[in-house]
Amino acid sequence: MAPAPSPTSSAVTLNINGEKHQLTVDHRTTLLDALRERLDLTGTKKGCDQGQCGACTVLVDGRRAVSCLNLAVAAEGREITTIEGMAEGDRLHPVQQAFLDLDGYQCGYCTPGQICSAIAVIEEHAAGWPSAATEDVRPEAGPPPLTPDEIRERMSGNLCRCGAYVSIVQAVNRAAEAHQTAARDDDRADQDETTEETAA
Ligand code: FES
Ligand code: FES
Repeated sequence: MAPAPSPTSSAVTLNINGEKHQLTVDHRTTLLDALRERLDLTGTKKGCDQGQCGACTVLVDGRRAVSCLNLAVAAEGREITTIEGMAEGDRLHPVQQAFLDLDGYQCGYCTPGQICSAIAVIEEHAAGWPSAATEDVRPEAGPPPLTPDEIRERMSGNLCRCGAYVSIVQAVNRAAEAHQTAARDDDRADQDETTEETAA
């Protein structure tokens, strides 16, 4: 049974992977510990527990966050997505599929965090966010080419002790290309629809 709220704990409702979870947590409980120890969502890994390795990365309102540095009480009202929420039924998220196809892992411990980061990296890049590796940061320059250097810089918060970096970069690159193709197809479909409506 969940402990009753006290001066040092609070009842919170966490929205995780589209499901609401009610629990009472000590105010010092990190989001990482709430996920793993209280909700059995053990896909999110604990590496350093101090914001250095990225193993605990999840998405909070679509942006990546290291869950070991976020308090569970501060996550109330936010939309949290963990690795368990990425696939649609049996269909893996394209980034998961790319990691699988290109062996973007060895032991797999860092992989959930790598995948969560990669999903956000692809969105950030598509939205035109520059990185420290971007040469031309003027807004009118648009998104820079997603070169291996760009990917390495943008994924630099996620460490891999197995050193699977070469395959990780390839997997992110492949998933980003698939994302760009899908975005172009959507644009083309929208344009065709507008042309048909104008002609009608
Ligand atoms: S466990 Fe959170 S950054 Fe390492
Ligand atoms: S695959 Fe083992 S730590 Fe990255």
